[in-house]
Amino acid sequence: MSKNIIVTGGAGYIGSHTVVELLAQGYNPIIVDNFCNSEKSVMDGLEEITGKQVTLFEGDCTDKAFMSQVFSETNPIGVIHFAAYKAVGESVEKPLAYYHNNVVSLLVLLEVMQEQNCKQLVFSSSCTVYGTPQKLPVTEQSPTQKAISPYGNTKQIAEDIIKDQVAANSGLSAVALRYFNPIGAHSTGLIGELPLDIPSNLVPFVTQTAAGLRNELTIFGNDYNTPDGTNIRDYIHVIDLAKAHVKTLDYLTGKSNFYDFINVGTGKGTSVLEIVNTFEKVSNQKLNYTIGTRRPGDVEQIYASVDKLKKVLNWQTELTVEGALRDAWNWQLNLNRKDIKTQGIS
Ligand code: NAD
Ligand code: UD1
Repeated sequence: MSKNIIVTGGAGYIGSHTVVELLAQGYNPIIVDNFCNSEKSVMDGLEEITGKQVTLFEGDCTDKAFMSQVFSETNPIGVIHFAAYKAVGESVEKPLAYYHNNVVSLLVLLEVMQEQNCKQLVFSSSCTVYGTPQKLPVTEQSPTQKAISPYGNTKQIAEDIIKDQVAANSGLSAVALRYFNPIGAHSTGLIGELPLDIPSNLVPFVTQTAAGLRNELTIFGNDYNTPDGTNIRDYIHVIDLAKAHVKTLDYLTGKSNFYDFINVGTGKGTSVLEIVNTFEKVSNQKLNYTIGTRRPGDVEQIYASVDKLKKVLNWQTELTVEGALRDAWNWQLNLNRKDIKTQGIS
């Protein structure tokens, strides 16, 4: 039986690594992407890593006629829906663009899945749905909080839409994976995170600073109530996160009218200063950094309880922050070698 899986946003950061892991586990990933936040060169990286030409449908997930055609031509058994805009700050400036892209793409997808009898969905959610947690680690029972950004709100709305569609006995079986902070790159250095603009996330800013593309990193505050005063996050290697998607697809097999959400993290908190120090160690580079003021909206500390992940998927992360930073640096060095100009450098 064909194991075609539609991977929307499959040319993006997490999607591309998931495509590699899907192929490794006998699935046949089919990428749907409009390259609004990725480069076509990702397809070459995928081919070099896997030795296979991955099927690509170039188009917009909000376009129902296009999506219907993709489903008719490929008859997928499931979908992993990564396609979305993801820049928190930008979402505050352009809320309509974020609601349109992130919510309409999901609605279109669910309509087409229903019409074409495709029943398994893995959805990219985020730990942002927990807001500022009252208790750590954050379990799936922790209350969600009103999102502080339109981006965060799109994830909460999307989870609700999926839950309601399952409750309507549509036959859909879905899991929302609530990611913590994905970092790192493929160990070959052939695919990785490729910010098309000045990165707002920590690790790409660190690697770009070490590579001389940025003057210095600003650490956003060292006066938090944490051991070294800087924020704490749960940084998960993108390869581990990719594997979690494959495990979730396996888990969904045979289920009907089913919905759940699962934290995907390591269970371990790491501070911003620890990231900087570990990066300096693994890259053998001195990082130019300064301590700045707090970034509005930053949560003091958050890391996942992984009990449910272990219990439900019978799996846990295997890779380390140290390894992720090494892989991120290797990827950055490769970008520099290829003189890729899409790093917010004009
Ligand atoms: P990314 O921007 O690298 O990848 C998203 C991909 O989707 C891109 O290739 C982009 O071109 C494509 N895309 C966007 N809108 C599209 C549309 N309408 N039609 C077709 N293609 C479209 O982002 P990522 O980091 O890989 O994130 C993937 C998913 O995970 C997103 O839903 C994001 O919100 C979620 N997520 C990411 C993080 C993170 O830190 N990276 C954390 C939590 C959740
Ligand atoms: C952010 C989003 C989150 C989203 C995720 C992925 C917020 C509040 N949260 O998570 O919803 O899912 O990105 O896109 O925006 N830092 C610095 N200097 C920098 C960059 C970051 O000190 O130049 C610090 C931040 O203050 C934070 C940590 O590094 O403590 C991680 O930041 P980042 O990579 O942006 O991720 P989050 O803020 O955790």
